[in-house]
Amino acid sequence: MLSKKHLFLYLALRNPNPRIPNSDFQHSEFRVFLMSLLEIEHLSVSYLTGACAVRAVRDVSLHIDAGESLALVGETGSGKSTLALAVLGLLEGPGAIAEGEIRMEGTRLTPDGSLSRTLRGRRVGMVFQDARGSLNPVLTIGSQLTEVLRAHQDLSRKDANAAAQAVLGEVGIPEPGLLSRCYPAELSGGMCQRAAIALAICNRPALLIADEPTSALDPSIQAQILALLRRLQDQRRLALLLISHDLALVSGVAERVAVMYHGNMIETGRTEDVFRRPAHPYTSLLLACRPDLEHRWDQSPLAAIPGSIPTDTQGFRGCSFAPRCRIAETACSESVPPALKVRDGHWASCFKPVGPVDTT
Ligand SMILES: Nc1ncnc2c1ncn2[C@@H]1O[C@H](COP(=O)(O)OP(=O)(O)OP(=O)(O)O)[C@@H](O)[C@H]1O
Ligand code: SF4
Ligand SMILES: [Mg+2]
Repeated sequence: MLSKKHLFLYLALRNPNPRIPNSDFQHSEFRVFLMSLLEIEHLSVSYLTGACAVRAVRDVSLHIDAGESLALVGETGSGKSTLALAVLGLLEGPGAIAEGEIRMEGTRLTPDGSLSRTLRGRRVGMVFQDARGSLNPVLTIGSQLTEVLRAHQDLSRKDANAAAQAVLGEVGIPEPGLLSRCYPAELSGGMCQRAAIALAICNRPALLIADEPTSALDPSIQAQILALLRRLQDQRRLALLLISHDLALVSGVAERVAVMYHGNMIETGRTEDVFRRPAHPYTSLLLACRPDLEHRWDQSPLAAIPGSIPTDTQGFRGCSFAPRCRIAETACSESVPPALKVRDGHWASCFKPVGPVDTT
């Protein structure tokens, strides 16, 4: 129970509008009194393959409040999907949480993944990176939905069928009755994605994790899926963890962004702040690599970040971006860069951030 003093502090500090994230709550001592929907603290995940361990997520801390949207961006192999799988208790085979804690609505999910499994599909919905592959090929969409609905709610078959049709309508499927009798192989990519979203939200979760929800779709369908995610968020006050390489997509949907590199969260802040005034050299280069319609291909090649994410076995004492960073200095390879406050709610882990930082 909160004491009267702590309750007063909570009310005074509480963000009046959860869609406008408060400044430094992630790093503030006052967060002790507040409970986010999802809280991840110092999470590290390893894959044990043969004699070596690949550290896919390294000491990552983040939070998502009810109704809020956070995008996780970064190059391929930076650990985005691994982090989502850890939240859902879906790390299998060689993957395991090495350190850290995950809490959902105050319930500790680590180190045992069994509690994650009870929340999965009920409080946390997941749209997997390969939507078609995540659907059961030998069951109709309707059967899959009724199965998931009845696994978490005490519904008769008839009521589950009605709820399945309703959620298919809600995700924009024009003839839910017809589509619910189809198998995944009979659907277009966009329809598969909508069906996967319907499966993820049918039990009214508080958090939706969407891993690359538009990467396999053409631009017009991508725009429709994004509009759908935004609408669902508004209508259901659904929190969204959006995983993507696509920075343009993220800028249109997420209120906050966390940039990952080599398993580390290297920059985080309000999307507008991070995109307009990135502080980490990697984020700055990532933004410079975005193609735009004005680009003259005949006059200059598109910018690219030289090199690639290091393999884990190379081992780094300092900043793992150092081999690719044009402004690296000796200190960068010797110790881990600290998290510097750039401005309210905006942090970057770098010895030499690009642009000014808050020194107060
Ligand atoms: N099952 C596995 N066994 C061993 N290593 C794995 C496994 N799954 C992922 N990894 C490694 O973990 C690291 C992070 O992978 P992850 O799939 O989380 O990255 P990602 O950011 O989601 O990439 P992408 O954008 O390509 O989906 C990579 O180095 C990857 O090779
Ligand atoms: S810490 Fe050094 S090497 Fe790493 S991104 Fe910053 S300047 Fe570059
Ligand atoms: Mg991935």
